Amino acid sequence: MFEFTGKVAVITGAASGFGRAFADKGAALGMKLVLADVNPEALAQTVDALRAGGADAIGVPTDVASAAQVEALAQAALDAFGKVHLLFNNAGVGSGGFLWESSVNDWSWVFGVNVMGVAHGVRVFTPIMLAQNEPAHIVNTASVAGLLSPPAMGIYNASKHAVVSLTETLYHDLQLAQAAQMTQAAEAGQATQGAGSHVSCSLLCPAFVPTGIANAERARPATLRNDSGPTRSQIAAGKQLQRAVQSGKLSAADVADITFEAIAARRFYIITHPGIMATVELRHEDIEHLRNPSDPMSLKPEVKNAG
Ligand SMILES: NC(=O)c1ccc[n+]([C@@H]2O[C@H](COP(=O)([O-])OP(=O)(O)OC[C@H]3O[C@@H](n4cnc5c(N)ncnc54)[C@H](O)[C@@H]3O)[C@@H](O)[C@H]2O)c1
Repeated sequence: MFEFTGKVAVITGAASGFGRAFADKGAALGMKLVLADVNPEALAQTVDALRAGGADAIGVPTDVASAAQVEALAQAALDAFGKVHLLFNNAGVGSGGFLWESSVNDWSWVFGVNVMGVAHGVRVFTPIMLAQNEPAHIVNTASVAGLLSPPAMGIYNASKHAVVSLTETLYHDLQLAQAAQMTQAAEAGQATQGAGSHVSCSLLCPAFVPTGIANAERARPATLRNDSGPTRSQIAAGKQLQRAVQSGKLSAADVADITFEAIAARRFYIITHPGIMATVELRHEDIEHLRNPSDPMSLKPEVKNAG
C-alpha cells in the first residue's frame, strides 16, 4: 500500500478540474502539496484556499510545455519539502475539428502541453524519485481518447495516445530498472530491495467529466493563437465538447477518489468509466481482425462522452 500522510505531492494543472480535486484529496490525506499551473491567479487562489483549510501547500507558476519551467518546479519542490513522492502529470488542453483544418499552432500547443508536459515531468522527476529510495508514484492523465479515436478531436486523440504509450513504456522501464538494481545488489551481496521497486506509475483514462476542459483555450499562450477564426467543424466540435463535458455523471472529486484508491493499490490502469471498455475491446478486435475502424459511437451512447 502507498502511504500518503506526510508525503509530498506535485500536481500540474492544479488550479482547476482534476488537478484541483487531486490537491483537495491530497490535503485531506495530510500530504504536503506543490501545486503548478500556467494560470498564476487561479493558482494563487487555489493555494490560498488550501492553506486556509490547514494544508501545507506552495504554488509554483509553471508552463509544463517548458522544459526549464518543469525543472524549476522540481527544484522548488525539493527546496520547500526536500522530497517528491507523488507526481500528477495532469495539465492538459484540447482543440477539436477536422484534422486537416487544424493549424500548426493547434498541434504545437496541444502536443506541447499534453505530450511534452508529461515527458518533461517523467524526465525530470523520475530520477529524483529513484534516487530517494523511498516509495514514489507517478500518475499520468491521459483520457479515454488515448484508448479510442473519436472523430473531430484528432490532435487531442493523438496526444493522449502518446501519453498512453509513454506511460505503458514507463511502467516497463521502471520494472527493468528494478530488475537491474536487484541484480547489482545481489552481485554486491546487499539486500535486494532496489530503487526501481519503489517507483511505480499509473495511467488515468477518464471519460468526460465537468471541469474547465471545454474552455481550455483560456490557457493558450498568445504566441500559439490562430490568426483566423474557427472553422465550421471546429465550432461544431466545441459545442459537442461543451455538451459532453456538462453531461458527465462523475465529478472531478469522484475521479480523484478513484485515482487515489488506485495509487494506494499501485494499480496501473485507472478506468473511471468502465462502460467504455466494450468500445475499447471493439477497437482492439478491429485491429486483430484487420477490420476497418468501427465507429466509436456505434456501441454505446455513453461513448459520446469519451473525453
Ligand atoms: N474533464 C474531462 O472530461 C477529461 C476527460 C479525460 C481527460 N481529461 C484530462 O484531464 C486533465 C485535466 O483537465 P481538466 O479536465 O481538469 O481541465 P481543466 O481545464 O479544468 O484544468 C486544466 C488545468 O491545466 C492548466 N493548464 C493548461 N495548460 C497548462 C500548461 N501549459 N502548464 C500548466 N498548466 C496548464 C489550466 O490552467 C487548468 O487549471 C487534462 O490532461 C485533460 O486532458 C479531462
